[in-house]
Amino acid sequence: MIDIHTHILPMVDDGPATVEDAIEMCKIAVNDGIKKMIATPHVGNGLYTIDASVIQEKVRMMNRLLSQEGLDLVIFPGAEVHMNDQLLNTEILKTSDFLTLNGNKKYVLLEFSFHLIPPETERIIFLLKSRGFIPVLPHIERNSRVQKNPTIVERFVELGAIIQVTAQSITGDFGRAPKKCAHWMLYNNLVQVIASDAHSPAGRPPILSRAVKIAIDMIGEESAMKTVWDYPKMILEGMPLEQCKKFWKKKEVI
Ligand SMILES: [Fe+2]
Repeated sequence: MIDIHTHILPMVDDGPATVEDAIEMCKIAVNDGIKKMIATPHVGNGLYTIDASVIQEKVRMMNRLLSQEGLDLVIFPGAEVHMNDQLLNTEILKTSDFLTLNGNKKYVLLEFSFHLIPPETERIIFLLKSRGFIPVLPHIERNSRVQKNPTIVERFVELGAIIQVTAQSITGDFGRAPKKCAHWMLYNNLVQVIASDAHSPAGRPPILSRAVKIAIDMIGEESAMKTVWDYPKMILEGMPLEQCKKFWKKKEVI
């Protein structure tokens, strides 16, 4: 499996506080069957200051350690970019490799609020798309407004955003509301990617398999595996993703 959303780099954001914790997380990922992951530290949210060179250096360091430990896992650079007005000036994205996933100047992981849907969201998606980028919206099922009215997500998909749901939402680790919302989106074929959004070895580990098992029961093995292998691989390589078959199996489970 490929995990495109992880806070795996030590001492850069609210991910692991030590190198040892980061390695422990990598061991958990390997045991879970994850072969590749993109490190996506928070960028531009006002809490953490980190630039491209630091991300690149930390990724190199982690890959060296993984090799020394004999762990079959490769980490790629990326970022979780805070969604704000600055993104309306996409020149910033053209000049900073790390802001896109694997520096491919294609996919941008946009940090999505847990409570608000910023009014400029649709405009940012549209503008990014028109400049050749593809926005990926992470953990949208954890947003309280989306939980109340999940059909909002259909509009973002129509505009060309890729929807990433967090594994622990599917399993119910974050409670009932995100679980129901994530399941509704899975049933309605609105989820292209399941990722871990891992932050720590214990509370938020890089584990995808439990969510995949549930997804297989809900949407079948072929569709479920696309969310952790085919689509993440295309995102990693900067290839265009096939548009999901929109709303083909609408079930009102909420
Ligand atoms: Fe994240």
